[in-house]
Amino acid sequence: MSKLKSTLKQKIEEHRPRTTRLLKEHGDVKIGDLTIGQAIGGARGVKCLVTDISYLDPMEGIRFRGKTIPETFAALPKVPGSDYPYVEGFWHFLLTGDIPTKEETLEIVKDFQARAEVPHYVFDVLRTLPRDTHPMTMFSTAILAMQRDSVFVKEYHKGIGKMDMWEPMYEDATTLMARLPRIAAYIYRMKYRGDTHIAPDPALDLGGNFASMMGIPHPYDDVARMYFILHSDHESGNVSAHTTHLVASALSDAFYSLSAGINGLAGPLHGLANEEVLRWTQNLMDRLGGKLPTEEELKAALWETLNSGQVVPGYGHAVLRKTDPRYMAQREFCLKHLADYPLFKLVSMIFEVCPPILKEHGKAKNPWPNVDAQSGVIQWYYGVTEYEFYTVLFGVGRALGVLANITWDRALGYPIERPKSVTTAMLEEWAGK
Ligand SMILES: CC(C)(COP(=O)(O)OP(=O)(O)OC[C@H]1O[C@@H](n2cnc3c(N)ncnc32)[C@H](O)[C@@H]1OP(=O)(O)O)[C@@H](O)C(=O)NCCC(=O)NCCS
Repeated sequence: MSKLKSTLKQKIEEHRPRTTRLLKEHGDVKIGDLTIGQAIGGARGVKCLVTDISYLDPMEGIRFRGKTIPETFAALPKVPGSDYPYVEGFWHFLLTGDIPTKEETLEIVKDFQARAEVPHYVFDVLRTLPRDTHPMTMFSTAILAMQRDSVFVKEYHKGIGKMDMWEPMYEDATTLMARLPRIAAYIYRMKYRGDTHIAPDPALDLGGNFASMMGIPHPYDDVARMYFILHSDHESGNVSAHTTHLVASALSDAFYSLSAGINGLAGPLHGLANEEVLRWTQNLMDRLGGKLPTEEELKAALWETLNSGQVVPGYGHAVLRKTDPRYMAQREFCLKHLADYPLFKLVSMIFEVCPPILKEHGKAKNPWPNVDAQSGVIQWYYGVTEYEFYTVLFGVGRALGVLANITWDRALGYPIERPKSVTTAMLEEWAGK
């Protein structure tokens, strides 16, 4: 058993009695009330999911395993010559809550390298799809196609006990994580780089290998590491995390579950927003003949979007009530590497001009930017200008969080999810009382 797996096993065994005790001794303790507004309104604020992997405070933003983004970046072992940590070390941290040593991290790098080979049929499946298929459809299809390899399914059919089910889930999750960067880079180069491909470099870490397969030099490897870590987890209620968890709760394996979560990420109100942000921003620059708008022109463009009933992409959030720290982390990268880049200047202008307008408009509960408002500009700067691909990058990152979560779901024996629905007439009756 790998060091990570045995640490995880120990953590799971230590954790289980806490969940058991809460259920057995305190299962009736109330942790909230439910309103009609919440039942109709997308279950906002309803506390009915449990995860220890990340927590989203509305005012502070995300903490991974109790650490803020800067604390996480500072604590994890860094790739030599790089400003950002190994994604593999972060995977250890998400799964166990412990910061791995350099040696432990390198062991995971090796484990990923050993699992990284993508079966050839996956590329065959991708190649049969029409080339103009959306890259998210391709990504989700590739993940689903690999379901035949699920260790969980094989163990399940052998008759594995409930308490042992996390082990094959962990195996599938790790294999998926190891393979996803290759699949994403393959889709990218098949669709947008004349179907020319760069073989994986077995000596590189996940972020470095991804940059290499994309064909983009340093510091794009750091962009990849930063990007995957920042997009990994945002507690459990967001569409991609919740969908993955929901599907997994039926004892579906990691391939079925992640593919479903990726489909949720493909929605314009969720992951696709980063594609929309760049489209919106580029359209504005195009309309102005490629130059930066004046403050007045920008205000007019924002009002035009709002008055036509559209959302300003990259702004607002279902939970956050301040600027997303993931936005700030990427802004920091931009200030270091592309401070004078016109598109970044425009994104910075929107950061200044948009929040007061959204406040005046009076609808969005959060007028501040989210992660998606900043990420596209970095990709564009490094030559990834095909913005429909951006959500695939988000998906590789998001996989870290949701796969760690469903491994723990199995470890703690969470049951099949089945909330109760009511009818409109019932709500009307309760409203009348
Ligand atoms: C993220 C988002 C889906 C959250 O939705 P939510 O929890 O329903 O947000 P709110 O409670 O603040 O929404 C209240 C109203 O404000 C509107 N609103 C929210 N964000 C807005 C934005 N960026 N621009 C314009 N209007 C917005 C909503 O559409 C809603 O309008 P309605 O009452 O007419 O339906 C929403 O802010 C949004 O659509 N943002 C733009 C897309 C985006 O960036 N998504 C990525 C999220 S990480």
